[in-house]
Amino acid sequence: MIFQNINTPPNTTYIFALLIISSILSLNSCSPEAEYVPIDQQVGALPQFVIAPNDNPTTAEKVELGRKLFWDPVLSGNFDMACVTCHHPNNGYTDNIDLSLGVGGRGLAQNRTGGILIKRNAPTIINTAFNGIDQAGNYDPSNTVHFWDNRSKSLEDQSLEPIKSMEEMRGDAYTADEAINVVSARLAAIPQYVELFNIAFGDDTQINGDKIGKAIAAFERTIIANNSRFDQYARGDETALNAQEIRGLNAFIEAKCTACHNGPMFSDYKLHDLGVPNNDKLPQIDNGVDGKFRTPTLRNLSSSGPFMHNGVFDNLTSAVNFYDNMEVNDDDAAQLNFEDEADTVAAIVAFIQTLNDEDFDKTIPESVPSGLPVGGNISN
Ligand code: HEC
Ligand code: HEC
Repeated sequence: MIFQNINTPPNTTYIFALLIISSILSLNSCSPEAEYVPIDQQVGALPQFVIAPNDNPTTAEKVELGRKLFWDPVLSGNFDMACVTCHHPNNGYTDNIDLSLGVGGRGLAQNRTGGILIKRNAPTIINTAFNGIDQAGNYDPSNTVHFWDNRSKSLEDQSLEPIKSMEEMRGDAYTADEAINVVSARLAAIPQYVELFNIAFGDDTQINGDKIGKAIAAFERTIIANNSRFDQYARGDETALNAQEIRGLNAFIEAKCTACHNGPMFSDYKLHDLGVPNNDKLPQIDNGVDGKFRTPTLRNLSSSGPFMHNGVFDNLTSAVNFYDNMEVNDDDAAQLNFEDEADTVAAIVAFIQTLNDEDFDKTIPESVPSGLPVGGNISN
């Protein structure tokens, strides 16, 4: 049983913060059942501010343009899909279905019918600005990882992929190679977009993939939820978690969940093979990268289920139960065992729910510059 990826020395501010929390707790008798938080844990609060790449500083103008693009089905082959079709704020910027339904579908989230079956569960956009953050709180937003198989390195790059994908947005209206040029030409023919791109990037700017990606990424960097009860606790408010939740935090650490779910996002952003069961809806087994998938964040799971890369677990309790008696089929072979199973699982679930923060931007624009239905075909 070796969890090697916890070797990284934790940042001193972390340890200090946690030492303070532990000492406050030990002096405080108002929650007598609560165990103290060990100081060697590798988890902590999210930063208050987001870093943007040097060549794409976040500006209000870019964010507003990015928001319009995110909601506008003009980015899709048949004018039916927007990013928001699968990443809707009312569903925590995801779609709450096991496997997303793409081109040709109608309706939103559980009411969605038809459409091409996507082989993976849609992760949330909330806090993706922090993808790749390490245990010391460091990350490089121009060189990080996105997608369940880590295949994209920045939000700027990632945002062009759905536009090119046949299943997600393109359909068969044009080829993947043509997609960005076709979409750029469409935007250049809409006066309101020309104006918005000029305001965001300078007069007479050329509308192209680079700028579409930059604007969408700038918008996504504003979809942040970094003030969960756990964050408040980690920043020093010892009343933010109750006794069961603190027990859950300790059980989470004792069960070595932090071997992979670590840092402020509760992810090491590395690939692992957990042997998650298949989703029978899929005609072919999705093998990820040699059977491995990226450790997902555990933040805001209240609104991002079903769980795992293929959405095979409907609820958090089943996802956590999955780990009982598990032998992780990984480079870091590991075995997880819960003592007093039901109680431990309930406490861990209660703890994970303290990572929810519903206070994120849920703005729904009244219209989009193309004049198409806002968000695509999302009403049945
Ligand atoms: C048909 C549904 C659908 C549409 C439309 C869609 N996505 Fe996604 N999105 C997904 C799925 C499914 C994944 C996971 C795919 C994978 O990992 O291979 C994903 C992954 C992502 C991720 C990675 C998150 C992470 O933590 O790694 C981001 C960011 C994202 N989408 C943004 C967007 C943007 C921006 C658009 C519009 C340009 C968009 N999506 C359109 C379903 C969709
Ligand atoms: C060896 C690394 C590793 C360890 C240890 C680990 N996890 Fe995970 N966790 C992952 C990976 C990888 C996934 C995604 C697997 C997939 O989809 O195939 C995941 C998925 C999850 C999910 C689903 C999240 C979502 O958005 O779909 C939950 C909940 C979860 N883990 C909780 C835990 C708990 C609780 C523990 C400790 C009992 C734990 N994990 C231990 C790597 C790990």
